[in-house]
Amino acid sequence: MIFSCGSFWWRELFVSSEGCRKPRHAIQFPDAVRAVGGVHVLLVLLAGLSVTGELLASAELVEQGRYVFQAAGCVSCHRGDRSLAGGRPIVTPYGIFYPPNITPHRERGIGRWSEEDLIRALRMGLDPGGRHYYPAFPYTSYTRMTRQDMRALYAYLMTWSKSSRQSQVHDVQWPLSLRGLIIHWKQGRFTPGVAVFDPARSPEWNRGAYLATALGHCSECHTPRGFLGTPRSDRYLAGTCSGPEGVRVPNITADEETGIGRWTREELDRFLSTGERPDGCYTSGLMMEVLGTACMQLTNDDRQALAFYIAALSAIHNNLDFLCESLEDDEFLE
Ligand code: HEC
Ligand code: HEC
Repeated sequence: MIFSCGSFWWRELFVSSEGCRKPRHAIQFPDAVRAVGGVHVLLVLLAGLSVTGELLASAELVEQGRYVFQAAGCVSCHRGDRSLAGGRPIVTPYGIFYPPNITPHRERGIGRWSEEDLIRALRMGLDPGGRHYYPAFPYTSYTRMTRQDMRALYAYLMTWSKSSRQSQVHDVQWPLSLRGLIIHWKQGRFTPGVAVFDPARSPEWNRGAYLATALGHCSECHTPRGFLGTPRSDRYLAGTCSGPEGVRVPNITADEETGIGRWTREELDRFLSTGERPDGCYTSGLMMEVLGTACMQLTNDDRQALAFYIAALSAIHNNLDFLCESLEDDEFLE
C-alpha cells in the first residue's frame, strides 16, 4: 500500500527538520489523551470514595488501550479534525481509500460494535456483517496483537467523543471496488493469528518483535512491495525507493554499507526517542510523524526492546543509492 497525505493536521504538528536543523515544533499528541487522563483521574477519585474495584480495573484497561493505540499508530490514519472521524486519504495505484469514522457514534461510527466485533476486525479483517476489509487497513499487522491489547483498544476507543461525520466511500477502480474479491487477495497472503513467543530468543527481543510487527507496523513503509502490494518477506525492512508519498524509505537492517549496521544500540535508541541520527541530523516527514505519534510515546523499556529487535535483524544488502538512481521504480526489479 502506498499512502499519501495532503496538508492535514500532522503537517502542523510535525513540521520537520530540513537538513540538520532541529524540528521547529515540539511534538504533541492530540487532546483525547488528556480527556482520557481526566477520565482516569475521575475514576481514581471515585475509587477513593470506595466505589468498586471494577471501575478501577476499567480505568486501567482504558489507559492500556491508550498506550496500544499510540504504539499502533491508529491516529495517523483515523484522526480527522478533532476526533477519530477518519482522516488521511490513502492513495494507491488501485484507488483512494478513506479511513472511516471510528468514534463511538452509534450510526456513523462503531458505537454499536461489541468488543468481539473489534477483535474480529483486527484479527480477521472482517466487519461485523462478515464482509472483508481492504488491507489498506493494516490488519495484516494487527492480527498479531494479543487479545488483551485488543480489549484494551476497545475500552479506549469507546471513551472518544462521538462524531456524526459520515465516512467517505472509497474511490477504488472496478473490479477492485467489489469487496467480494478481497477474499482472493487474502488467500495465500494473509494468515490470521496472534504473535508467537520465540523461546529461543530473549524476552526483550520478543517484546521488540511484538512492538515492531504487531503494533509498530514498521514494515508498512520499510519493506518493499511486490505483486499487488504484498510486502516482500525476503526483503523485510530492507528499504524501498517507492514508499508512501513516493518517498524513499531507508534500509534499517544491520547491513553496514546500505543499512544501519554501523549504528550502536544507544544511537538507535536516541533516534527512536528524539529523531536525531548519529550524524546529528534530524529525521523528517513521515518518520518524524511515526516517532511523534508512536515511538516517543513508548516506555523506556519498550523503546529499548524495539531498538534491540531492530539492531538484531539480519543484514540485507539493498543499495538504494544505486536502485533509486537507475530505476524510476524498484518494483520492476522484483
Ligand atoms: C494505514 C492506515 C490505517 C491505520 C494505521 C489504521 N487504520 Fe483502521 N482503517 C483504515 C482503512 C483504510 C479502513 C477501511 C477499510 C475498508 O473499508 O475495507 C479502516 C477501517 C477500520 C475499522 C472499521 C470501521 C468500520 O466502520 O467498519 C476499524 C474499527 C479500524 N479501522 C480501527 C483501527 C485501529 C484500532 C487502528 C490501530 C490499531 C487502525 N484502525 C489503524 C486505515 C487505517
Ligand atoms: C509511514 C512510513 C514509516 C513507518 C511506519 C516507519 N518508518 Fe522509519 N522511516 C521512514 C522514512 C520515510 C524514513 C527516512 C526519513 C528521512 O530521510 O529523514 C525513515 C527512517 C528511519 C530510520 C533512519 C534510517 C536512516 O538511515 O537514517 C530508522 C532507524 C527508522 N526509520 C526506523 C523505523 C522503525 C523502528 C519503525 C517502526 C516502529 C519505522 N521506522 C516505521 C518511514 C517510515
